[in-house]
Amino acid sequence: MPANPAALHILHQRLNVYLSFKPFFLSLPHFSSPSLSFVHSRRFLRPRLPFPITPRNLSSLSSTSAAQSVGEDGGGGGRSGALSPPPITEDVQKIDVNPPKGTRDFPPEEMRLRNWLFHNFREVSRLFGFEEVDYPVLESEALFIRKAGEEIRDQSTVTSAKKKTYIIEQLYCFEDRGNRRVALRPELTPSLARLVIQKGKSVSLPLKWFAVGQCWRYERMTRGRRREHYQWNMDIIGVPEVTAEAELISSIVTFFKRIGITASDVGFKVSSRKVLQEVLRCYSIPQNLFNKVCIIIDKIEKIPLDEIKKELKSAGVSEDAVEELLHVLSINSLTKLEGKTKQLTQSIGFGKMYQFVKNESVDAILYAEMLGSAGEAVADLKRLFSLAEKFGYSEWIEFDASVVRGLAYYTGIVFEGFDREGKLRAICGGGRYDRLLSTFGGDDLPACGFGFGDAVIVELLKEKGLIPELSLQVQNIVCALDVDLQGPAATVASLLRGKGQSVDLVLESKPLKWVFKRAARINADRLILVGSSEWQRGMVGVKILSSAEQYEVKLDELE
Ligand code: HAM
Repeated sequence: MPANPAALHILHQRLNVYLSFKPFFLSLPHFSSPSLSFVHSRRFLRPRLPFPITPRNLSSLSSTSAAQSVGEDGGGGGRSGALSPPPITEDVQKIDVNPPKGTRDFPPEEMRLRNWLFHNFREVSRLFGFEEVDYPVLESEALFIRKAGEEIRDQSTVTSAKKKTYIIEQLYCFEDRGNRRVALRPELTPSLARLVIQKGKSVSLPLKWFAVGQCWRYERMTRGRRREHYQWNMDIIGVPEVTAEAELISSIVTFFKRIGITASDVGFKVSSRKVLQEVLRCYSIPQNLFNKVCIIIDKIEKIPLDEIKKELKSAGVSEDAVEELLHVLSINSLTKLEGKTKQLTQSIGFGKMYQFVKNESVDAILYAEMLGSAGEAVADLKRLFSLAEKFGYSEWIEFDASVVRGLAYYTGIVFEGFDREGKLRAICGGGRYDRLLSTFGGDDLPACGFGFGDAVIVELLKEKGLIPELSLQVQNIVCALDVDLQGPAATVASLLRGKGQSVDLVLESKPLKWVFKRAARINADRLILVGSSEWQRGMVGVKILSSAEQYEVKLDELE
């Protein structure tokens, strides 16, 4: 039979009248004696009441009952409080209690893992002398719109007059109430570039910045890829040498070691985009196609090779060049790469040079510069591998020409962390991006960095059985033995907190059995009991929970 709202209201009013007797009811002592003699026995002695308290007769009155808490919440602390008024039916909107697809809640146990991870991110950054920064999660959309046709794009939403601009497909973007186009950041690097430009000459180089921030990408969900993730970034601005990349990889290795991951679990594939640049140059492929080619090649492990070839050809890369590119991408040793680079450089004869310069879409001066930089990639990589030896992480890194990375702005060394079993997506990735600032109208500065997500690493830790046991840990649980002693118990809690001790203060009148269960749940070291006779003597009772040792201590000696 449907409930009659008027009848419910009357019933509710009656219940409230009844519950107004609650203070009297609650003030009945929970213990036969409010002194500490109970400590010898963990048994809770019920007060004598005119009628027996059972979970059933109490719960029929109010959910605040201690007995109900003991019986039904298994000692984990139950929900209690006065009855709430009946809902007004027209306001009831049944909601989906799951978070939006691809996003996560962080209940306490998940939050502990996240905090542990972030703590390690921060500790490693501190060990390397980096300063923490952050940027708004909401940025101007323009910051993320690039012309390269990266993975993060939407070619179906071609909006510019020239129909050339690609909006980032995975971008969460919208118009705000002030008609501004804004976006939830999909990554942190453009914001970093913006801030560096804004700071201008006021900052002293090199900058060593790190950030841990939430990023949003409307991505197809796979293991370790979600629509919202946190990224740890470390970036060095102002160092043109490969020492910066070596330092950054060293910091990631340090992080892996701290959390129990070894070189047999994880490795870094390292390459340089300059390798590709050289191949493209040899085949007279204009510079403006470079970013696009990199992005197509980045998909090499995700889509069939024939698709890659098709995409390259339709981007304007000749058949010969496609074959040469794929050959170079399969090189997995620096020595072989060096041989190939020399061969490529020699193959650029004057005939080709002339043909190249004649091509109006190509900047001849740039081309000449590139010719002079032949072998730069090899030199950078050799230096990096030699530094890796000095840092002591040689066994972690390997050369792999197929790594180009999916973001347009990289210009030199690129690297990716991968699991050696090949079960997961990239764990982290980064590289050099010396020309990003000028794309935003600033003066270029040498820059490199990496992003390290919070999702794949957790999958890897699960695979390896390395998820740490992180339980709630509160040092003390403080409990008044009588409702009248809740004030003194608060004083004890404040005193301990003032001394830097964490305290879970029992806020309601609860039986001792409940208190012990709670102490176990929160992994408390000590139970501090405030009983009336002890309190009158300026003392409290202490029980060390690991050893069951118990004693009384003067309040001012409580440490
Ligand atoms: P990225 O390769 O796009 O690079 O992302 C870096 C890392 O973020 C990935 O390796 C992965 O760990 C994590 N990640 C990315 N997308 C997702 C996702 N949808 N779900 C879960 N995790 C994800 C960048 O973002 C560059 N801005 C990194 C950088 C910083 N380069 C220089 N400085």
